[in-house]
Amino acid sequence: MTMTDETVAFDVENGIAWVRFNRPDKRNCMNPTLNRRMMEVLDELEYRADVGVLVLSGTGSAWSAGMDLKEYFRETEAKGLGAVRKAQSEAYGWWRRLRWYGKPTIAMVNGWCFGGGYGPLFACDLAFAADEAQFALSEINWGILPGGGATKVVVDLLSMRDAMYHALTGELIDGRKAAAWKLVNESLPLADLKARVTEVANILLKKNPIALKATKDAIRRVGEMTYDNAEDYLVRAQEAANSHDNEGRKEGIRQFIDEKSYKPGLGAYDK
Ligand code: ACO
Repeated sequence: MTMTDETVAFDVENGIAWVRFNRPDKRNCMNPTLNRRMMEVLDELEYRADVGVLVLSGTGSAWSAGMDLKEYFRETEAKGLGAVRKAQSEAYGWWRRLRWYGKPTIAMVNGWCFGGGYGPLFACDLAFAADEAQFALSEINWGILPGGGATKVVVDLLSMRDAMYHALTGELIDGRKAAAWKLVNESLPLADLKARVTEVANILLKKNPIALKATKDAIRRVGEMTYDNAEDYLVRAQEAANSHDNEGRKEGIRQFIDEKSYKPGLGAYDK
């Protein structure tokens, strides 16, 4: 099934929801309409039985040119603080929703990725970029600091030196450098990007979905915990997952121990 409007488009195909920023004429920059629409689309797709993985990409030459400087900044600021806070909460809201999404998510960075775009980039669990993609924290180029979480994103993902250089200079880096800096998992030629993302999505589609959600949340949560707190959280998280999924892991053990039909060290059990 396909849905297209002026800000967001998506197709669902073979378990993968291909969601796209869809303002190619504006290089997919995020205006308030897009931010509201993206939240609705995330709502619509999250618990659908035919969606196992969500991929976020952009129509045209951009992934996203960040926030819309005219509609998100200038026009909203002209309406006063209430409008600014509302626009922020709509943008930050869908990024937060994406960070804790019920399904695994992949950023497929096909082109330009600036500033505010680092919010949804970080929100996606995995990220694959075209070698040709271009990334920058361009805030410094027009006189603000990288807000909306962008500073936090680069400090969490990059070394302190790379984060500082990136934020202070506003210089572009390409997909290869983004991968070397660990801003994305991998970079590969644009012509091969979709095939690689499909391959990774298909790996995820074979896994137990309850375990995927528990695992992605655990990876994000434990980074801020002491070892002992993490150990405790992980026991509780697994026990909570067990209560949603009494059969999945038992079936995984059964196929390995009794049926000898697969080896967990080499791949996933047959769901
Ligand atoms: N906000 C508002 N409009 C934008 C944005 C943006 N972030 N990015 C592109 N557009 C608009 C342009 O104004 C232009 O509109 P027009 O056709 O009505 O004149 C249209 O999109 C196409 O943009 P061009 O600049 O003509 O496209 P080009 O391919 O030559 O350049 C590039 C692409 C490099 C992305 C350029 O548009 C650009 O620098 N955009 C701003 C990137 C940026 O710094 N974003 C803000 C980051 S900071 C933050 O998000 C908080």
